[in-house]
Amino acid sequence: MNSFKIIPVITHIETFAEFIKLFELSGSDLLLSEHAVIDKHIGDMDCHIIFRDDYGIGEPTSTIINEIIGIASGYNYNRVIGIGGGSVLDIAKLLAIECNGDCALFFTNKLEAIRNRSLILVPTTCGTGSEVTNISIAAIEGKNVKIGFAHDSLYADNAVLINELLYSLPRRIFLLSSLDALVHAVESFLSPKATTISRMFSENAIKTIVLGYERLLADNTIQDELIESFLTAANYAGIAFSNAGCGQIHAMAYPIGGDFHVPHGEANHQLFIAVLDYYRMHSIDNVFKQFTDIFDCLFGRTGYDYFINIIEHIIKRKPLSLYGITAKDCERFAYIVKESQQRLTSNAYVNISESEMIEIYKSLL
Ligand SMILES: [Fe+2]
Repeated sequence: MNSFKIIPVITHIETFAEFIKLFELSGSDLLLSEHAVIDKHIGDMDCHIIFRDDYGIGEPTSTIINEIIGIASGYNYNRVIGIGGGSVLDIAKLLAIECNGDCALFFTNKLEAIRNRSLILVPTTCGTGSEVTNISIAAIEGKNVKIGFAHDSLYADNAVLINELLYSLPRRIFLLSSLDALVHAVESFLSPKATTISRMFSENAIKTIVLGYERLLADNTIQDELIESFLTAANYAGIAFSNAGCGQIHAMAYPIGGDFHVPHGEANHQLFIAVLDYYRMHSIDNVFKQFTDIFDCLFGRTGYDYFINIIEHIIKRKPLSLYGITAKDCERFAYIVKESQQRLTSNAYVNISESEMIEIYKSLL
């Protein structure tokens, strides 16, 4: 079977003022966002607001999410609007389904999700793609790893891209979030579940981001038009991985993020080249050749090596040991991936065994 779908209506606009007018925000809406994004617009909106950053910084745990769900239950609302980075959008998805108890029950498949509110998602980074996916990711208390909960009830009705919200994005967040989008595009391109159509979205995102990085390496300035094109590329990458899935890189990055609180884009960056190197050495069919052809078409005969060089220079990778990670942790990470990340490892281009994962982690120490 070869199927492909895009659920949310996607709207791309320039300003937040246009958004407020277009979607007629009212007292029956619940907005989940962050102070830095929304504070200057508060006077223009008449809706319930929860600030995700009032409940701790960093990646959200199931305890924090449950606290937010508890606060939301005190409001009367029939539409959820999530405006923020990946974690805000992922929590907003949970506010749009029936949840009276512990959200961890969804992540461990112990509770069926039932959608009871409409949902609008607005990204404020150019990475997550969460606005077009049916996945919510959270660090589940007691599990020491982030887990994904994928269900069609988590699809937004509307995904809205607003250029203005990204113009003040700090450089490092811009780079790490766009690298996450690039990993989404690459993993979905190489996934066994990829289709001709999903690869079209993957390839477009890969080209946009890599060409943007090449320009950034030559001229250090992040222009508004680059931000706009990366916002679209991240959305395309989200559409691609919503259909074909992410794979081994995300699977191996999650224990680093969950256990050592390394931001998601940074954790992916750790594994990106190492896993691609493994795939290159163990390539099983012509899909990896199709992947390298993308770069040969862009940059010439050794385009793939040039692409690797761009990734190595756009953000410098820090040795894992500098986060406090040890050889013993590498063994534990590989075990966690094998035990809890089958949703992702099943999309790996080539299966990587537990002992091979340990070697990959150790090579990054
Ligand atoms: Fe990601």
